[in-house]
Amino acid sequence: MLLLAVMAGWTAKADEGMWLPSLISQRIGDMQEKGFRLNAEDIYSINQESLKDAVVLFGRGCTGELISSEGLLLTNHHCGYSQIQQHSSVEHDYLKDGFWAMSREEELPNKGLSVSFLERMEDVTDLILKGYEEGMSEDERVAIVKKNSQSLIEEVTKEGKGLRATVEALYYGNQYFMFLYRQYDDVRLVGAPPSSIGKFGGDTDNWMWPRHTGDFSMFRIYADKDNNPAPYSKDNVPYQPKKYFKISTAGVQEGDFTFIYGFPGRTQEYIHSEGVRYIEEIGDPHKIHLRTLRLDIMNRHQSQSQKVRIQYSSKNATVANAWKKWQGEVKGVKKMKTVQTKQEFEKAFDRWAAGGEFDGVIAKIEGLYKELEPYQFATDYYAETVRAIEIANFATSLYSAYKVNKETGEITFDEKKAADLVESFYKDWYLPIDKECFAALMTEFDKNIPEDFKCEYFKKQMKKYVTAEKWAEAIFSKSVFADQDKIEKFLKNQKSLKKSRAALLKDPATEFAAEFAKWYAAEIQPVTSRINQELQLAYRDYMRGQMVYCRTQRVPKAFYPDANLTLRVAYGHIKGYQPADATYYLPSSTIKGIMQKDNPDIFDYNIPQRLRDLYAEKDYGRWADATGEVPVCFIATNHTTGGNSGSPVINANGDLIGLNFDRVWEGTMSDIVFDPEICRNISLDVRYVLFIIDKLADADHLLDEMTFTE
Ligand code: ARG
Ligand code: GLU
Repeated sequence: MLLLAVMAGWTAKADEGMWLPSLISQRIGDMQEKGFRLNAEDIYSINQESLKDAVVLFGRGCTGELISSEGLLLTNHHCGYSQIQQHSSVEHDYLKDGFWAMSREEELPNKGLSVSFLERMEDVTDLILKGYEEGMSEDERVAIVKKNSQSLIEEVTKEGKGLRATVEALYYGNQYFMFLYRQYDDVRLVGAPPSSIGKFGGDTDNWMWPRHTGDFSMFRIYADKDNNPAPYSKDNVPYQPKKYFKISTAGVQEGDFTFIYGFPGRTQEYIHSEGVRYIEEIGDPHKIHLRTLRLDIMNRHQSQSQKVRIQYSSKNATVANAWKKWQGEVKGVKKMKTVQTKQEFEKAFDRWAAGGEFDGVIAKIEGLYKELEPYQFATDYYAETVRAIEIANFATSLYSAYKVNKETGEITFDEKKAADLVESFYKDWYLPIDKECFAALMTEFDKNIPEDFKCEYFKKQMKKYVTAEKWAEAIFSKSVFADQDKIEKFLKNQKSLKKSRAALLKDPATEFAAEFAKWYAAEIQPVTSRINQELQLAYRDYMRGQMVYCRTQRVPKAFYPDANLTLRVAYGHIKGYQPADATYYLPSSTIKGIMQKDNPDIFDYNIPQRLRDLYAEKDYGRWADATGEVPVCFIATNHTTGGNSGSPVINANGDLIGLNFDRVWEGTMSDIVFDPEICRNISLDVRYVLFIIDKLADADHLLDEMTFTE
């Protein structure tokens, strides 16, 4: 443990790293050297208010920050996207036209959306491993960790409202941290620009620089009269945060210090070369191919109907996002020769390890990866094909509205749940897309999954129908789920719950989901989970081994725990980059670039007329930069990943200068390997946000809530 503490502080290469806020005193010297003017206690403190109190985990995988004393919150447009979409219809198309609440009464509540503040985090390694002794099996260790975690969580959450806690393994279980959060569930939509601004450039520009996307939306957190978390109620009042960000409009320049405070989701910086090789040669290419098929189908139908375009906007964006990222990632690790570099490292490590504590760990990991590969492949395929069939997922969740009492055998049916499921599913479902995807994906499944891995059910269906198209035809014409009227009638006229439940189970869509799930649970998952557990164990040694090796052999390497959706600090500076030979990208973009891309004939580049007018009249208000243009985005060297979307970008004084929302394509391999020359995070300049609120939305009442530093 002492080693870990020491390691975390030592020899970090410039700008790589996602640091734990509670240990930031180990990095603060470096941060200050690079320009930061505040102290460790200003970033994270449990004794006084600190910047952490103004940062939230937004929804399930984004970050947001407080920007007023009345609970006003800023995050990305793509983070609020599904909420904006849910409030949208052809009549009220907030995606297309934007939405601005002109009073508190107009702010829109959102089912299922919550935000969490980190109250505190603590190293609880000793507590969590209490009772564990050297020589115990991994199963025993897992059980001990689970039991100790549960009682710790119970203890720390009993004190107050909205408290929830998690215990997370860091460094593959060499260390454990407890995170205590306070969760607020009444979060209302305050404003969003039209998608032509918030998603400007669409999936064409996604993951790319130069960028001109106004990727922001605004929400407000509500609390009960005592400022405590409470479920939605019209009596709730705006939450008063302990801390909120002041906004700097002074602007940014190349070289300026930047600090990203947020919730990065997942990185794998210390994995073995075999793990990288699988991603590069097998996992990513196959997943990319499968998603290309789906996207082609969605895009074709979406371009033919306004209704379908809205219905599939959020689904399409989600599918396209990882699809494009994986392509950049593959290119990046290839270019970096990551597999080769790692192999060389592993060889040297192995030689060094001979005869000592870490002897054999490399060979062990290699063997496990070999064993894992076909099962991992099947897992990836299951996720990207079977689980991508919307009607099958819907059938499964609707089926779960029936509950069987284990003792009496009595069946109950949750009508409310079923009605909600029906409503939200059919609002955004278009049968031809789902059916064509089914045919395309099952064809690929047939082609690429080895015979002895296929389940009996699949083989039988393919034998019966010969082609996946014919099979699709059968399912989508016979299933009761393929027709909203039919299923509604079915649910309304249930005479015997037992009979109707049995009928639904036999429905071809339910059957499809259930048969594959059975196969996955019986033949794939047990093997992957056993191997992964063994891998985890081997990695625990290898992780420690890498630290000892690098320290004793003087290999300069930054050690920070892989991202796991816990609060982290990443710092760097504003900087351009060279994506290719003879090309250099400047670090900031302006409204001029929006006008250069503007094209009324291309959906992704068709901006609102009002923006054209403002530009023509140079009606920029207070928001122009020194060159007289409105700044839009900038890039910097901060190490970020998915989950960092919406994170505050903070300047040397601790004030807000922007909003993180993406990375450059050439640098997306930073989840595996970070290259300071190429890896850049992309942020929205806060001045563009303010310009849009002020000039496009005419929502200056929101500006009145904010505090500016000039
Ligand atoms: N690439 C960004 C992220 O990973 C933005 C995604 C949303 N935008 C989109 N066009 N799909 O989440
Ligand atoms: N857009 C990503 C997100 O939603 C951030 C980009 C990245 O992966 O760095 O979190």
